[in-house]
Amino acid sequence: MSDESLIHDYRYIFQKDVLRGKVAFITGGGTGIGFTIAEILMRHGCDTVIASRRLDVVKNSAEKLSKGTGQKCLPLQVDVRKPETITKAVDEALGQFKHIDILVNNAAGNFLCPAENLSFNAFKTVMEIDAHGTFNVSKAVFDKYMKSNGGVIINITATLSFRGQHLQTHAGSAKAAIEAMTKHLAVEWGPNGVRMMCVAPGPIADTEGMRRLGGDKITDAFIKSIPVQRLGKREDIGNTVLYIVSPAAELLTGTTVIPDGGEFLTSQNNYWALKNNPVFKQLISKM
Ligand code: COA
Ligand code: NAP
Repeated sequence: MSDESLIHDYRYIFQKDVLRGKVAFITGGGTGIGFTIAEILMRHGCDTVIASRRLDVVKNSAEKLSKGTGQKCLPLQVDVRKPETITKAVDEALGQFKHIDILVNNAAGNFLCPAENLSFNAFKTVMEIDAHGTFNVSKAVFDKYMKSNGGVIINITATLSFRGQHLQTHAGSAKAAIEAMTKHLAVEWGPNGVRMMCVAPGPIADTEGMRRLGGDKITDAFIKSIPVQRLGKREDIGNTVLYIVSPAAELLTGTTVIPDGGEFLTSQNNYWALKNNPVFKQLISKM
């Protein structure tokens, strides 16, 4: 069951009705970053569809989001690896709302694992959830709505592939595929009025992604190594998405916004040096 909670002191920067009348479809919107993206869009007048494998989780989160924002939120069951579940969900969403103006491909799967320990199926699983999943949902929404009506598609990626990151060959490869896909689709679908963007967060506190990538091992030295001197918050990512889908960003397409406080520029990233670091050793010894 979802134990997500809404932001209690949200500071409005944009006009509260900037997304009035819009509908956003958010994969993985029942938890973590996806939940907060849904919340921030809804706080600005948008209705949402949140879709993932666990129906009880999205149902519970939809109730919280609707109650907290006064907007509609439709929870649907989807496995982004299974096109038949996606087309069914997109049909249901269009049946209820008549339009899907915004798609956020946020669903993903990840864990820490050295490439030499990855099974063939482990690599394939992450590629299928992240890269195939992003294509599958984008294509279904394009075919059924955006081809004729335009819209904005935001793919949540990561900074993993920008430099090559230890223990992340599977996720980095998948996110890199999404970054390339975003550029291709921006070129093909631009004339249909579709803008395609990536948002590549750095480490975001209070998320499953952070927990899985050693979030409990964050040190003061790590925080001090980040140019803005703090970890990201889910709200940072929600606000970035809000900006991209707003009329302020009408010229942005086929590129990536990196809300990471500069972390990927400065964080330590030498696999062989890190192997002798006690914190890193502890992480690897668990595998
Ligand atoms: N290290 C190495 N391999 C792993 C692993 C880990 N921590 N976790 C799973 N795998 C391997 C499995 O062993 C399996 O390979 P095998 O068949 O060769 O044994 C393969 O990955 C698929 O695992 P499975 O559990 O069957 O996949 P799933 O489809 O049920 O779940 C995951 C997908 C593994 C990504 C799962 O962690 C998940 O559902 N994650 C969603 C939430 C998440 O990751 N959030 C963070 C987002 S950044
Ligand atoms: P999270 O809460 O675990 O979110 C992942 C979501 O994806 C879950 O709601 C999950 O729901 C859904 N999902 C997984 N597999 C799916 C599938 N096959 N079909 C449909 N839905 C599926 O993790 P998070 O940390 O918020 O991550 C959200 C996004 O941000 C991911 O794209 C991640 O790569 C990216 N990101 C996170 C960080 C970070 O620091 N957290 C940093 C960079 C990038 P179900 O289990 O119900 O399916």
